[in-house]
Amino acid sequence: MSLNTLLLDSSRPSLEKAASLLREGRLVALPTETVYGLGANGLEESAVKAIFLAKGRPQDNPLILHIADRASLAPLVRIDGETGRRLLLVADAFWPGPLTVVLPKSGLVSPAVTAGLDTVAVRMPSHPVARALISLAGLPIAAPSANLSGSPSPTTAAHVLSDLSGKIDAVVDGGPCEVGVESTVLDLSRPLPRLLRPGGISLSALRGTLGLDVEVDRAVTAALSEGEEVRAPGMKYRHYAPKTPLAAVTGPNAAALMLERAKKEGGAILCFDETLPFFRAHGIPCVSYGPENDFSAQAHSLFSALRALDAFSKPIAFAQMTASSSDRAMAVVNRLSKSAGFHILRTEEPLI
Ligand code: TXA
Ligand code: MG
Repeated sequence: MSLNTLLLDSSRPSLEKAASLLREGRLVALPTETVYGLGANGLEESAVKAIFLAKGRPQDNPLILHIADRASLAPLVRIDGETGRRLLLVADAFWPGPLTVVLPKSGLVSPAVTAGLDTVAVRMPSHPVARALISLAGLPIAAPSANLSGSPSPTTAAHVLSDLSGKIDAVVDGGPCEVGVESTVLDLSRPLPRLLRPGGISLSALRGTLGLDVEVDRAVTAALSEGEEVRAPGMKYRHYAPKTPLAAVTGPNAAALMLERAKKEGGAILCFDETLPFFRAHGIPCVSYGPENDFSAQAHSLFSALRALDAFSKPIAFAQMTASSSDRAMAVVNRLSKSAGFHILRTEEPLI
């Protein structure tokens, strides 16, 4: 079924229109401070199912419910004393903002949202347009990133339209997203808090706020510790990926290796601002995503730069990735590694 996708601005009448579409069970993409979300009434099973259809999202991948105020949280979750204490600590510190918490769900939350899990992910975004729209709708809004499943998440309304035009009812344009990668996901449903996805809120900030260790789920970094060149089995680990096959390149000789391979294979380059002139001087199609040591700037631009790579229509692309294992680099390293399907070339090791 093809829909006429409305492009709405963020004026009050437009947000009222968007809110009434959401209340009718329709799909509305909305800006948040992280990435654009594909929103629907989180309490209506048919609306939630429509999200999975529009994105081509696997049924076993649960959604985040977005709320505008704390009073909206209580009906969605079941919280005991210690979980409640931890929730209060992180909510006081990071809500509204780019933090999602996973908590035991209440009976109100449909298994369509949680993919059958007994926990639910909840987030209170800080973007003023998201907050206004969720309040006007008066509902928890289920919203995954508003991209086709597998592609880079959208950080502008144009990205949303390029993936989902004709498949959703409307997109609200709130300009480019500030953070640029999705929220940090923290599981508070276990005895020890666990980081499931790195994002705008760092691991050390969570540990400091909770005064507790926070485990890091193996999926966040597992493939990074493997050998010099890794390709995870199957395509199921390839997320956030441009259409162009991508290899991430890291280490002291990254730029030299990227130049050699791009020349030989007719490839394109994603690099730091500092190395852009080097690749340009060699006539290689290239785009940069921020200064080498500014991981927030890299996160802000990464997904949009990955989409720009496809415009070169090359058979392969090489992406320069920081060798830093610092906490602040975790989100951008995680997203870029996944974009490359964990196909990572490390130049400090002998090249085969
Ligand atoms: O920044 C964000 O979080 C964006 C914006 C739109 O808010 N949303 C977003 O949603 O990234 P999505 O669906 O693309 O990613 C949700 C992540 C997935 O990795 C999903 O597996 C995880 O959250 N998740 C959702 N519910 C969960 C649960 N009950 N237990 C564990 N993981 C869960
Ligand atoms: Mg997503």
